[in-house]
Amino acid sequence: MSFPLPIETDRLLIRPFVPDADCEQMLGIYDDREVMHFIPGGALAGVAAVRSNLERYANTQRRLGFSSWAVVARESELLIGDVGFGIFEPTGDIELGYTLGRQYWGRGYATEAARACLTTALAHLAPPRIIAVVDEQNDASRRVAQRIGMAQLETLEAHGRPHALFATGSDLG
Ligand SMILES: CC(C)(COP(=O)(O)OP(=O)(O)OC[C@H]1O[C@@H](n2cnc3c(N)ncnc32)[C@H](O)[C@@H]1OP(=O)(O)O)[C@@H](O)C(=O)NCCC(=O)NCCS
Repeated sequence: MSFPLPIETDRLLIRPFVPDADCEQMLGIYDDREVMHFIPGGALAGVAAVRSNLERYANTQRRLGFSSWAVVARESELLIGDVGFGIFEPTGDIELGYTLGRQYWGRGYATEAARACLTTALAHLAPPRIIAVVDEQNDASRRVAQRIGMAQLETLEAHGRPHALFATGSDLG
């Protein structure tokens, strides 16, 4: 089933990445060690690594009809991060993820983007549930998951560290 893009919210536009056009702006986010601290694989080194990451997202988009997408601030038209979905291989669930450039933290953008994606995904993909897998020390991400109505079900080992498994419930969405 096709996923309706772009998604517009009050302040944001969520659209597929265009690897060649977006890789320079995303470099400023994906090469930041603090931003990437809890992301498997950590910070990316150089624009080629970022382009290859964005091409992987574009391939996932073609294969599955969803992926990680670009988050653009509508007022400035700046690319401020990513949001979207992948497959969490250990369970096969659709997994929500989000990353913002550090200068865009603390403004509610991640919550706004994640909520819009979650609502659209529940309506258009109709999965049994959508999960978020959050490092136990990643308090900011945990708060985003809680604010959009996901509930913590359990703790599991992922990427070699304890993570909280958040999921949508049958009464959510
Ligand atoms: C996870 C991440 C996106 C969360 O960013 P964030 O800025 O904390 O989350 P939001 O954009 O939703 O902003 C929420 C904060 O802005 C505040 N805020 C300020 N203005 C706001 C507004 N107009 N509307 C809503 N919230 C606002 C909220 O009070 C909240 O602060 P709090 O969490 O201290 O209570 C960010 O920490 C990040 O990119 N981390 C690195 C990547 C990562 O770890 N991703 C998750 C992997 S599971």
